[in-house]
This record gives sequence, C-alpha cells and structure tokens, in this order.
Amino acid sequence: MKDFSYISHLECPKCGETYEETKVQQLCKCGSPLLVRYDLEKVKANVTKEEISKRTNTLWRYHELLPVHSEENVVTLGEGMTPFEKFPTLGAEYGINNLYIKDEGIIPTGSFKTRGASVGISKAKELGVKQLAMPTNGNAGAAWALYASKANIKATIVMPLDAPQITRKEVFVAGGDLHLINGLISDAGKVVAGLVQNQGVYDASTLKEPYRIEGKKTMGYEIVEQFGWKVPDVILYPTGGGVGIIGIYKAILEMQELGWIEKGKFPRLVAVQAEGCAPIVDAWKKGEKESKFFENSTTCAFGINVPKALGDFLVLEGVYATDGCAIAISEEDLLAAQKQVASLEGNFICPEGAATFAAARILREQGWIKEDEHVVCLNTGLGLKYPETVEIEGVQTLQPGQELFVNN
Ligand SMILES: Cc1ncc(COP(=O)(O)O)c(C=O)c1O
Ligand SMILES: [Zn+2]
Repeated sequence: MKDFSYISHLECPKCGETYEETKVQQLCKCGSPLLVRYDLEKVKANVTKEEISKRTNTLWRYHELLPVHSEENVVTLGEGMTPFEKFPTLGAEYGINNLYIKDEGIIPTGSFKTRGASVGISKAKELGVKQLAMPTNGNAGAAWALYASKANIKATIVMPLDAPQITRKEVFVAGGDLHLINGLISDAGKVVAGLVQNQGVYDASTLKEPYRIEGKKTMGYEIVEQFGWKVPDVILYPTGGGVGIIGIYKAILEMQELGWIEKGKFPRLVAVQAEGCAPIVDAWKKGEKESKFFENSTTCAFGINVPKALGDFLVLEGVYATDGCAIAISEEDLLAAQKQVASLEGNFICPEGAATFAAARILREQGWIKEDEHVVCLNTGLGLKYPETVEIEGVQTLQPGQELFVNN
C-alpha cells in the first residue's frame, strides 16, 4: 500500500538526539519535547503545492507532511481548512487596512484542539495505543476524548473544575474517563504524570507526545495557502502551552525548505497572553530563553491559563527568530474585543481569540503594526463554548400582549 507519510524520524531540539517514529516515544531522555522530521527532499520531488490545493478540504491534504503512514489509520471528522476572512469594519476601527481572522471556531468540537486530536489520535492508533491520559484546560480533553472514542482508545482526562463546563460534557458524552481537579492544569499534570508512571498508559500531555504539534502546524500551512502561498506580515496567537505558535513556526520553516515560500521571509509571530497569566511575556521582556512559573494565575480566557509551558523555549525561539513580540492583555480589553468582533463582524469568538484582536489594536496604537501590513488574528475556538463570558445588561422581559417600541 502507498505510504501516506514522508516522516523520517523524531529529533530533540535541545540535544539533537534522534528517535525512531515506529514505536511509542514520549520526551527525549534530556527532558525536552521531540519534534517530527520528514524527508523534505522526497516531498519536494513528489508533490507540488498546486497539487495540494486541489485535494480534500481537510488538514489531511498535507498528508505527506503528517506522521501517519497508512491512510486507514486516519481518524477524521472533516477537520481543517477553516475560514480565513478579512475583517474590513474592525480593520477600519483599528487602523489596520488588511486585518484577517483565521477562524478555528468552525471546526468539529469547536476549537483548534481538534487538529492535534485528529493527528495525535491517528498516530496513536497506528502505534497500537489502547489507553491514554492527559491533563487539559478543557478544549483539548474534549477533542481527544471524542476522537479517541472513534479510534476505540480509552481516554482518561483530568481537567480543572473551572474549565468551561461544556468541555466536561463533551468528554462525558464521548464516554471518556473524566476527572475534575480543584486546581490548575499544572496540578492536573501532576496527577497524570503519576498515573503514567504507575500504570504505564500513553502520556498525551501537551508536547509529551510528538504528534499533537503536527496537527496544529497545519494552521500555518493553511494560512499560507489561503493567503496565496505567501506569508502575512504578522500572526497573533493566544499562547498557553504554545503548541500552536510552535507548530506555525515549524510549518513556515518546512515550507521554506520545500521551496513553497520565499526563504528567510517570516511572519512576525506574536505570543498573546492574559495579564493574569503571562509567563512568556515576562520572559520575552527580559530577553530570556525560558519562562518562570507564573504564581496564582487567573483569566477567563481559560485555554491560556498555563503558568509554565514545557515548550516555552520553543515559543520564545519562534518569537525571537521572526522579530515578533509577546504582549499581555487585560480581562477588560479582551472581553471588549470579543463584543466588538461580534457586533462589527458578526462572529462570536472565544475569549482567547478575542485577546489577539485586543493585541492587534494595541500594537497598532503603539506603531508596532503598520497601517498597510497584513495581520492575521487566530481565533482558536467558538464563543458558543464560553457563554459565561457574556453578561447581558438592560434587557427587558415583555408580557404577552405588551406593545413594543424600538428606536429607529
Ligand atoms: C481556545 C484555546 N485557545 C488557545 C489555547 C492555547 O493553546 P496552545 O497550547 O497552543 O498555546 C487553548 C488551550 O487550551 C485553548 O483551548
Ligand atoms: Zn534531548
């Protein structure tokens, strides 16, 4: 059967050690996450970007650059090729003439975590995994539980009590093994680490398996393809564990290597965090290569409440290498942006995504973003998953038969 993937091996970005991809691998022995490497020369010789553009409208259109060998092992619900749209009204408001949304709300399970779940679960299935465990801030657990059910893999999911309520219901309805914890994702991580150590289940924690990032990197491929196989000037990403921004940077490097885009021309990558949890921003301000644990973190943008990310050094590398920056947004500003996007552009986005729009506005005001630059904000999920972030004020309840007058 034809090989669906041109994967070659796994490589440690810290110490350079390499690993086989044909068996289960987790972290490098030095403790770093592993990155997937492909035979890019073979991809170059066998596939053109024009061919890719004619393929199925899912992220599996990039299958040579994904880690699954046999097409039969692909677990898909039709994820990927999400909308990439211009926001002219909001752009005019911000003084950015070319403002775009990459909208990951329009995807199965309602968040971009689906990409990592589809690719991660497909590879787990190929490797014969029967049981996995993961800590989550909600959306990833929901997506992995749903895809795991389709692959007949048992999923143990541990999430904070404060995670969006709908995500625990998604795990439950999928038949996942759901556990709630009265703490943060870092506390959930410790519980999962114990379980992995004692019972040897597959550790699907962020970056502790190498394949989730491969799913998320397809956001980078899609943005470039949808932008006409060019890179925009700026991409703003709501950064928690940082997998998305690491993945987008990896995708750009791969596409440069493949000759699909100009070598050396990068979008400036912006790591957007909340003021209540900004470890990457603090590290970037000091020019450091790693972040420190952010004490007592809190934000309503729950997906980016990650006090210390395992891949922080990779996020910072992507930001420094592309002349990007890191910025923290107040709760007030991100909620105002959520309302503004819905009321001007008709799109109810999640609070994490809203933070990127608030960041674009502020960076434009500071002159860091120029008027004519092409700016892409990543909305990582559907606003409908976070009904509690919207407070309704001044709405009157009518009695049947009561007459209604509106201002016109
Ligand atoms: C909606 C949403 N946005 C952003 C993030 C942060 O993702 P990453 O790990 O890629 O930084 C999460 C993670 O839970 C999320 O659920
Ligand atoms: Zn290593």
